[in-house]
Amino acid sequence: MTDARIIDGKAVAASVRDEISSRAAGLLDAQGIRPGLAVVLVGEDPASQVYVRNKDRTAEACGFNSIKHTLDAATPEADVLALVETLNNDPAVHGILVQLPLPKHIDESKVLRLIKPEKDVDGFHPVNVGLLTTGERDHALVPCTPAGSLVLLKRTLGDTLSGQNAVVVGRSNIVGKPMASLLLQESCTVTVAHSRTRDLPDVVRAADIVVAAVGRPEMIRGDWIKPGATVIDVGINRVPAPDLGEGKNRLIGDVAFDEAVQHAGAITPVPGGVGPMTIAMLMANTLTAARRQLG
Ligand code: GUN
Repeated sequence: MTDARIIDGKAVAASVRDEISSRAAGLLDAQGIRPGLAVVLVGEDPASQVYVRNKDRTAEACGFNSIKHTLDAATPEADVLALVETLNNDPAVHGILVQLPLPKHIDESKVLRLIKPEKDVDGFHPVNVGLLTTGERDHALVPCTPAGSLVLLKRTLGDTLSGQNAVVVGRSNIVGKPMASLLLQESCTVTVAHSRTRDLPDVVRAADIVVAAVGRPEMIRGDWIKPGATVIDVGINRVPAPDLGEGKNRLIGDVAFDEAVQHAGAITPVPGGVGPMTIAMLMANTLTAARRQLG
């Protein structure tokens, strides 16, 4: 079998960002509104710092106001809640994102539940989760990584998702569960597999579409992939790479790419697959939130 088509998430994300930039420029011209995205980072987790910097830069590049709040790791929970409340009430802020994970002394769910659902550009508030699962996507804000994964699937498969067997590996609130809801809405037959799933290789072998979101480097092997299946690898795992030099790391996915590429019909690389789409969809959500808040 010939090697899989490589799904170029970087290129798709660039085209999504271009579209958003021009729509944001239109909004500014027509209504004098510039979408505002507030990102809250508590602590100094290095991976979170990289993500937040990328979000900040991309928002600026799209013509948004980007407001970054960096708080000390020891900030009391009450101060974080007070900041969220201030941002909820600030009319220049259309989207609020609190970077996860939060330090242990802060109740994550309490913070996320305080964000106004119409400003919840991560789509993590129970109101948005509810709207997504009841099929009211037009009123919801949908989590960025699964939304971006669906865009890649649609660009790859066109209008053929209906009836396909989709296996989502991973059941997180950030990716696995919302991904399953989105695929169900596209009329896929959806299986959510996880660490307790029995005979995982055989479950994956039945999939026309595999979405891997477990956070375990190269856990999904090539011979688990049905010939011709579409593989979306959400994993971003940093592993030591002594071949690149002492102390160097490289990013790899949850799928053993070199093996899977020989079985799949199409596959996302890591990096350059789902990653760039996540930030592009955050911009899309912020623009959507700004337009909806106009009334
Ligand atoms: N940490 C890892 N992924 C995410 C995400 O999608 N949103 C937020 N807020 N934090 C994260």
